[in-house]
Amino acid sequence: MTGKTYRIAVIPGDGIGQEVIPVGQRAAEAVADVHGFAIEWQSFDWSCQRYAETGRMMPEDGIEAVKGFDAIYLGAVGWPGVPDHVSLWGLLIPLRRELDLYANVRPVRLLQGITSPLAGRGPEDIDFIVVRENVEGEYSEVGGRLYHGSDHEMASQLSIFTRRGVDRILDYAFELARKRKRRHVTSATKSNGIVHTMPYWDERFAAAAARFPDIETAQYHIDILTAHFVQHPDWFDVVVASNLFGDILSDLGPAVAGSIGIAPAANLNPTREFPSLFEPVHGSAPDIAGQGIANPIAAVWTAAMMLDHLGEGAAAAALERAMEAALADPATRTRDLGGSADTRACGEAVLRAIR
Ligand code: NAI
Ligand code: MG
Repeated sequence: MTGKTYRIAVIPGDGIGQEVIPVGQRAAEAVADVHGFAIEWQSFDWSCQRYAETGRMMPEDGIEAVKGFDAIYLGAVGWPGVPDHVSLWGLLIPLRRELDLYANVRPVRLLQGITSPLAGRGPEDIDFIVVRENVEGEYSEVGGRLYHGSDHEMASQLSIFTRRGVDRILDYAFELARKRKRRHVTSATKSNGIVHTMPYWDERFAAAAARFPDIETAQYHIDILTAHFVQHPDWFDVVVASNLFGDILSDLGPAVAGSIGIAPAANLNPTREFPSLFEPVHGSAPDIAGQGIANPIAAVWTAAMMLDHLGEGAAAAALERAMEAALADPATRTRDLGGSADTRACGEAVLRAIR
């Protein structure tokens, strides 16, 4: 019973973002009711539709407009007709950079009642968290193109690994591991092929491991690591990776746990200088948008991560339990999980479980 009111900026975005985010909002409100706090939402229409109308994904002072909120809850952005790099670099990447959301955290858990595409695996085998560096690394705008259209045209792009950037994401991963049962951190590297930045990453990983002697460690090159995710998901607890490798692993992770329709993500500013941003892993799913059949569980789980970050741990845990209860019943699972429920029916099941 904290009695607090949290102010949250909501950006439903495009496609199924607009269908699943309201479900997450209602679930968060219901659990807030039970736990004695309140949520005040303010909605922003930033999206590809807005881009089509105004030429911008968000207004010029967009970042300033959300800086004062306690958190940001986002659906997905991207829609056919607007190139994906335009929608991404017009909204999500500036938010991540300017709010310094340097830790992208994606839990991967095989929930009760979900069948993994990996034969013979149960909930006890798949329970890890991918921690992705979210603001530097391979995704930098340093580089350029020359001699456009000529037969010697060229493109170059520089990876940026700073000591501050690498050390803080490694520290985040090790500290997270300390809160978990297994207390184990795996580093994703590629220091055989990428000869400057990745050996540097390995060096900093070794230094971090020395600072956390109570945490066990392992490291693999990214190529074999993807294979291990499939063949040995039970080896992993916290997996820390650069921006690109983390991006790849954090799609593969949820895939081994059943469906991208349930996968949550947090873009965290662990210093809390600025609000953190919470979004499902999935995109706007134009192939199913508008049909009311999208799985809202990723949005609900994401809302639980948001409540946890706000300090409402008990409410977050209750929301996760409600979501697991909805998933346990085949009648309230959506089609991506082999069920027949639509978005609304699945959302109602979560609300019933909360009450
Ligand atoms: P996507 O995640 O939107 O869809 C991939 C597949 O998974 C589709 O078949 C879709 O129907 C299915 N799917 C996704 N979420 C689902 C859900 N909740 N319930 C049931 N099925 C679900 O990825 P895709 O197709 O690569 O991208 C579509 C658009 O979304 C693009 O414009 C892309 O740039 C954007 N995108 C945006 C992201 C973001 O805002 N963070 C993340 C990923 C993609
Ligand atoms: Mg991705």
